[in-house]
Amino acid sequence: MVFNILTLFPNLLSCFFKESIIGRAIEKSLININLIDIRDYSKDKHKKVDDYPFGGGQGMVIGPDAVFNAVGSLENPGYVVYTTPRGNLLNQEKVKDLSEYTVLTILCGHYEGIDQRVIDNIVDEEISIGDYVITGGELAAAILVDAVSRQIDGVLGNKQSRKEESFDNSGLLEYDQYTRPADYKGHKVPDILLSGNHREIEKWRLKNRLKNTILKRIDLVLRLIDEDKFSDEYKKLLEEIRKELEDERY
Ligand code: ADE
Repeated sequence: MVFNILTLFPNLLSCFFKESIIGRAIEKSLININLIDIRDYSKDKHKKVDDYPFGGGQGMVIGPDAVFNAVGSLENPGYVVYTTPRGNLLNQEKVKDLSEYTVLTILCGHYEGIDQRVIDNIVDEEISIGDYVITGGELAAAILVDAVSRQIDGVLGNKQSRKEESFDNSGLLEYDQYTRPADYKGHKVPDILLSGNHREIEKWRLKNRLKNTILKRIDLVLRLIDEDKFSDEYKKLLEEIRKELEDERY
């Protein structure tokens, strides 16, 4: 998969993409990241790309010319995304959808934004990484590339790593993980995980996922109920969780 990233700050991203899982995915040619400096496409002798907003107001706006030229220079821009707090909220479903494209072009916003004519004519989708504002679209682009890349076979090295995680098909958050020692200064690992009984461990993990989801993200549980995906197995486990929580209270 190819990611073209149009940015005013390519150095912000280049170090992130060198490291760890994404760095290895690039080395293995599973993904290819093309960092494009929008300033390189400015016709201004000082490489200026922004200007005052028409109608007045705070800050500067990235003008259309350099961005149109930068995107126009791409042989195949594929699906074009603009990172902005007013975009569609990124979630795992959206991440999976985006991983189906062979080429993704990400335009990073900055300052007070970008000339609307760019969005109207070049951008296929505006995407937000959450209901908060960061100083520029680069971190949002890094998150997008990271989340989409790990959907590509081979990137995680082991498909299993994507099997039982938060926001998978079950609609539940992930279960609690433990490693050695089994007893850390009196803080013990749940006995069942040391039992070697795989069926019981699977059951514990599913129940733990459900409990985590109920306690941390009740909106996800309500969505499962709404979509008629709250199975009889979940209902049985829910009753067990309710009893356990009640016992903990008294
Ligand atoms: N740029 C600034 N804030 C952002 C957000 N929440 N998502 C995507 N891009 C942004």
